[in-house]
Amino acid sequence: MAPTGRISAAVALVLAFLATSPAARAGDERPVSLPTSFRSWVHVRSMVVTDADAGMLGFHDVYANELALETLRSKVKGAAYPDGAQFVVSIFEVKQEKGTIVAGPKLRDVVQRKDRKAVATGGWRYGSFDAAGKPIAKDAASCHACHSQASDRDHVFTEFAQ
Ligand code: HEC
Repeated sequence: MAPTGRISAAVALVLAFLATSPAARAGDERPVSLPTSFRSWVHVRSMVVTDADAGMLGFHDVYANELALETLRSKVKGAAYPDGAQFVVSIFEVKQEKGTIVAGPKLRDVVQRKDRKAVATGGWRYGSFDAAGKPIAKDAASCHACHSQASDRDHVFTEFAQ
């Protein structure tokens, strides 16, 4: 076999391995961790979900890290986020008191982190954490199923509140 033939055979072997490795088949679904510093990221917007059937019931505060902000603020339609771009939504109970709606006790934090290797979930990793910061077992595929409705915006629903 000519040296170039040997090289392409080796490349084919590596590609075959990548295609059949569990990570490639299921999508690379290593869990994300809850970033400790997200409270000092930029606050993107707040939102109250009042529909109990919507699954995300609660008072939402959305945060974005530096890597996510440039794309989020850009006017380029469908721009893809760079690897490492992250969003966190803090979800609180909705409390109504004396004519105001405020955030009550923390329910959970959800995380979305761009990683093009996570092909099965649209190039994003997803994670969910209880009020104490402990991971909640959630299938990233179920997060992706809904977020794929925003596939024309690289799976990000949030828009920047000016
Ligand atoms: C039924 C649809 C639905 C499901 C399921 C869902 N989300 Fe979302 N998600 C939304 C919507 C709508 C928003 C925008 C809400 C906001 O701005 O507060 C959002 C916003 C987010 C954001 C902020 C960035 C963005 O895309 O706007 C993160 C982070 C997030 N979701 C994580 C998750 C995680 C983790 C899961 C799975 C455990 C999940 N989501 C499941 C609908 C969904």
